[in-house]
Amino acid sequence: MCRVIAVANQKGGVSKTTTSINLGVGLVKLGKKVALVDADPQGHLTMGLGFPKNVRVTLKNMMENIIMGIEFDPKEAILSHKEGVDVIPANKLLTGMDMSLLTAEDREKVLREYLELLEDDYDYIIIDCMPSLGMLTINALSAADSVLIPVQPQYYAADGLTELLKVVKGIKHRFNPELEIEGILFTMDSSRYNNSKRNKQAVKAAYGAEMRIFEQSIPRSEAIAETASEGISIFAYDNRSKGAKSYAELAQEVVNHA
Ligand SMILES: Nc1ncnc2c1ncn2[C@@H]1O[C@H](COP(=O)(O)OP(=O)(O)OP(=O)(O)O)[C@@H](O)[C@H]1O
Ligand SMILES: [Mg+2]
Repeated sequence: MCRVIAVANQKGGVSKTTTSINLGVGLVKLGKKVALVDADPQGHLTMGLGFPKNVRVTLKNMMENIIMGIEFDPKEAILSHKEGVDVIPANKLLTGMDMSLLTAEDREKVLREYLELLEDDYDYIIIDCMPSLGMLTINALSAADSVLIPVQPQYYAADGLTELLKVVKGIKHRFNPELEIEGILFTMDSSRYNNSKRNKQAVKAAYGAEMRIFEQSIPRSEAIAETASEGISIFAYDNRSKGAKSYAELAQEVVNHA
């Protein structure tokens, strides 16, 4: 059975894209079949895996086909990365999708309908969300079995989560009763600093009772930051790095959870 995980946080730059890529490749290394969906008009997941910005067929075309109700090949958009993950790419043309969705029938469920056409082929589909809670992110949360929330352990981290969790609750209530929280993942963690420890404690105190907080956190690392420009995961960049080990552990935790 396929598990669809949305990686979401409306706060920008908390490592959603980096986590989508490296969790995805981590799952491939555990023998899983994985598709990554770029649901962000910034197209960072697409570019971060070395695909060009002007790639011809994207998530936008797939969603448009669903909206218009025409027959199409759902695999037409799929790109294969050399590390074994499949990618459904995006670029800035996806920006218009928020508007197209506003007038579409069942507008919250367009992405879900598309992914249902792919589910037989994958063990995991990971959706990299954009930093907003607009229609595209609502579509991602409606399509997902669970949401993984990357959080940078900064002072205001717990604050922003309240809004996100409200939206998750709303989606669960209205469109997707099965939606779960996969967990909170601390990213860009400098655990040797006391303030990072304090901020993690604050998030744990506020949310630890209601939801899982992954045991493994992802360290801040120069190697991880460099992977995007190389178009590869941390595993291909330096398999023995702390970053690679932490994403391998995260993938194992995700598999254990299922
Ligand atoms: N563990 C890490 N250590 C160091 N740098 C990191 C780490 N994770 C991500 N980065 C860097 O931080 C920046 C933001 O990461 P990323 O793009 O993954 O965040 P995002 O949440 O997807 O951003 P956006 O909200 O714009 O989509 C990137 O330059 C990335 O290379
Ligand atoms: Mg991103």
